[in-house]
Amino acid sequence: MNQDPLWYKDAVFYELNVRAFCDSDGDGHGDFRGMIQKLDYLLYLGVNCVWLLPFYPSPLRDDGYDVADYYNISPKFGTLDDFREMLDVYHAAGIKVISDLIVNHTSDQHSWFIESRSSLDNPKRHWYVWSENDQRYLQTRIIFIDTEASNWAYDPHTGQYYWHRFYSEQPDLNFDNSEVQEEILNVMRFWLDMGLDGFRVDAIPYLFEREGTNNENLAETHQFLKRMRRVVDDEYPGRILLAEANQWPRDLLPYLEPDEFQMAFHFPIMPRLFMALRKGNRQDVVDIMNDTPPISPENQWCMFLRNHDELTLEMVTEEQRQWMWKEYAPDDRMRLNLGIRRRLAPLLDNDIRKINLLNALLFSLPGSPIVYYGDEIGMGDNIWLADRNGVRTPMQWDESKNAGFSGADITYEPVINDNGYGYQKVNVAAQIDKPDSLLNMTRNLIKVRSAHPVFGRGGFTMLEPENTAILAYERELSEAAKMVVEGAARVLVVANMSGEEQKVTMGIDAVQGTDLLTGQTHHLNGPLILNPYEYLWLKLG
Ligand code: GLC
Repeated sequence: MNQDPLWYKDAVFYELNVRAFCDSDGDGHGDFRGMIQKLDYLLYLGVNCVWLLPFYPSPLRDDGYDVADYYNISPKFGTLDDFREMLDVYHAAGIKVISDLIVNHTSDQHSWFIESRSSLDNPKRHWYVWSENDQRYLQTRIIFIDTEASNWAYDPHTGQYYWHRFYSEQPDLNFDNSEVQEEILNVMRFWLDMGLDGFRVDAIPYLFEREGTNNENLAETHQFLKRMRRVVDDEYPGRILLAEANQWPRDLLPYLEPDEFQMAFHFPIMPRLFMALRKGNRQDVVDIMNDTPPISPENQWCMFLRNHDELTLEMVTEEQRQWMWKEYAPDDRMRLNLGIRRRLAPLLDNDIRKINLLNALLFSLPGSPIVYYGDEIGMGDNIWLADRNGVRTPMQWDESKNAGFSGADITYEPVINDNGYGYQKVNVAAQIDKPDSLLNMTRNLIKVRSAHPVFGRGGFTMLEPENTAILAYERELSEAAKMVVEGAARVLVVANMSGEEQKVTMGIDAVQGTDLLTGQTHHLNGPLILNPYEYLWLKLG
């Protein structure tokens, strides 16, 4: 097991939906025993840390992000003992496990809320945010705009309104109440005591409310988040907190202080990778990287292309959003809230060159990459399923019944079974023996990245050669880092974002570089020729 306290800087993460991964008992839902069975696959892929989507008891209004009990797991996924065994088995194999921690809100079925709404003087009343009217905090945006008209919901029993940033079935906890704060810290301890390696902390900008603000990123929220971090540092050193805050890089900086989160998702770069690829021009990526301030050495960005939510278009301009919808969501049904409910392969026209290219960027930009389960085999989506479920369908293992996911007659959602992406064609078994399959190309990127800590720890310099179809940057280890880590010290990444052959003169001091992915040597004292969507990871010096 990696004992380095900075392990997360070198790690490749895998976002795993237990429910979707492998069903060991044939009830149509994946479970922890199924996850244990699939350990070998994750070892083959080469990922180092699994991020588990919520597995707590829940009425599933928001697919588990509506927690009904923080101290248990949903019986559909198994027992606490199964969970512990999974942790032991994964740890023994060298894979760390973090899970979603949802603290902003609970389910309205949580006993705390049931008590809270039962009377005005119930001891749990002030565990949630209640109001006489729905006219407070009007400067707060609505996140689930397709379903919710207000952040307030009326409770007829007590004649007051309660505050919710997501579905009305997800009342927000009242962090002004110290009992709530203490309880949430105890929830953390419960899972960390069991051996979990950290949390992806959900929806953290919204913990506190203050009149006259937009109720995001408030100072009070940061104070509490620092308390969370103190628990980790004092009681569980080496475990990590990853911030889910869909914000601009400059607004994320306070979260990435050394006394707050070790990691934060870099949301705004994600749509810009898709923009640059569609335009065959690097500029959108250059702009956002120029806008990304430096962070301290113990902090790290988390990079991703897709996840379990819609491809969010919150961190783009209105004009860019309309453009993204036009280009990537031509059918209205593909749009959801401020985003696009599609998976990676369908977004990229199932073109393996484009998928490999974006993966090559994902794995080489500054930060730690996250692979969304199924994207490594190019799984499709089902836009006709409700909410975001169309990108949460069962993992496709082989061509047998239910893609080898489950022996049940009915699974929690149907397996993808269409012409382009049906499980008979797109599955792990069909790809594992083919060196050029998406699975093995992804695996190779992970392998090479993992052998060269420069990708996780090195500095980043954007290069701007004359040809704007070429996205190019250098990653370089500091002198100090060179002493402690192995692998290449300086890597030049060159990517042809366009569908045409491109010629580019790099104009850097190196005369040649060896591609870490293919072993081929490329000369840099003359122009480089890149095939459509080709990428190089050139070791310099
Ligand atoms: C986060 C999750 C999303 C969930 C929301 C509310 O954004 O990624 O799936 O619906 O929080 O918990």
